[in-house]
Amino acid sequence: MAKPRRLFSCTECGAQAPKWVGQCPDCGAWNTLVETVPPDARRGSGGARAPTIHSLADITIEPSARVSTQSPELDRVLGGGLVSGAVILLGGDPGIGKSTLLLQTLGRMSGDTDALYVSGEESAQQIALRARRLGMSEARLGFMADNSLESVIRACRETTPDLVVIDSIQTLYTDLIESAPGSVSQVRETAAQLVRYAKQSQTTVIIVGHVTKEGAIAGPRVLEHMVDTVLYFEGDRSSRFRLVRAIKNRFGAVNELGVFAMTEQGLKEVSNPSAMFINQGLDASPGRTVMAAQEGTRPLLVEVQALVDQSPLANPRRLTVGLDHSRLAMILAVLHRHGGLSVYDQDVFVNVVGGVRVLEPAADLAVAMSVVSSLRNRPWPADLVVFGEIGLGGEVRPVQHGVERLREAHKLGFKHALVPRGNLGKQIPKGLRATGIATVSEALEAEFGQP
Ligand code: TYD
Ligand code: MG
Repeated sequence: MAKPRRLFSCTECGAQAPKWVGQCPDCGAWNTLVETVPPDARRGSGGARAPTIHSLADITIEPSARVSTQSPELDRVLGGGLVSGAVILLGGDPGIGKSTLLLQTLGRMSGDTDALYVSGEESAQQIALRARRLGMSEARLGFMADNSLESVIRACRETTPDLVVIDSIQTLYTDLIESAPGSVSQVRETAAQLVRYAKQSQTTVIIVGHVTKEGAIAGPRVLEHMVDTVLYFEGDRSSRFRLVRAIKNRFGAVNELGVFAMTEQGLKEVSNPSAMFINQGLDASPGRTVMAAQEGTRPLLVEVQALVDQSPLANPRRLTVGLDHSRLAMILAVLHRHGGLSVYDQDVFVNVVGGVRVLEPAADLAVAMSVVSSLRNRPWPADLVVFGEIGLGGEVRPVQHGVERLREAHKLGFKHALVPRGNLGKQIPKGLRATGIATVSEALEAEFGQP
């Protein structure tokens, strides 16, 4: 039998070449050639069909669109549950808890949903052992240890499960391509075939993807645009909290956050995350501010800490953990220009406690106030909560969801809020004293003005 033809194509310009070369012969880009499936290899697996054009109005919509995962936190990030025919990508660092989350989810759903767990990483023994340890010995769950996409798809067509989990896409390979499993071309082609299978059979497919060092799911984000929903599993490995965040969702809102805690018995839901992220054991100390953030539809209280210290370096360090780095430079410039505070000879470190990432501009005021508090070595009151966006002119701009943020702070016992004037309104919770400010200097005066 003749050896199947190999084909490589450039990810930049699409030029094709019969063998791999380091530089694209067409556009001259380096290291952009990846193996692709030659057009004749796919023949027989479909063929051309007569095109059909529908009128959108004539299409009937099935009412039972969503299946609950029996986990309120996971349902929240999914936008209400699983949709049949949808492909979900769950990305995250190795060892963060992706397999544990999915195994537990399938275990809980096993009563009503016919699920298949495909693992290319662990043996049936290992998975069964983990399932027992997680207390799922009764769960009836199909399991398959295989790396071949063709046999996985064949098994799926024969057993017709409602939900398939592929753990992970980096261990799966298709015979159509000779590159090693985990390479960009294998990941792209296997994912494309899984997407095709999901759409044809109306099966929900969850694909696990390990994140590479660069932070993208293997291959330059090749998977993200192919799937319907992208969830990222985040969290600091040293802390037990794990966050699942929706980055893209064709069936719901993005930026929703699900919060879990890793325990001896697997992942547990955290239904009141605000209480957990603020360090209530501490008295007021310099450099810390509690901020009311908004993650999707849910407000979340987090603690922003800053440390400002004399720098021995010619170029003092500016470091952020969990915050937008470029905004720190901007906030320091505004504090200098409009607040008269200079930190040009100081190292500035800013951190959000608990491994949370707060990338919204509403964090600006908390960052500025933490920096000022650390620089002056004077704490803010322990019952103060803040939020607000800072503009280049030193103005504090209103942010969305002000009322929700204030309600959450009130619920957790905060007595005083410093917020953009534009966020003051009738709906401020009773018992919470909200002070409206229009500029950064007003914010500093409002607090430091008090004894
Ligand atoms: P795992 O789900 O295997 O991670 P991933 O699939 O993302 O690579 O999680 C592995 C980690 O979770 C491992 O370090 C041990 C920890 N863990 C617990 O702490 N408790 C548990 O009950 C389980 C199952 C795992
Ligand atoms: Mg795993």
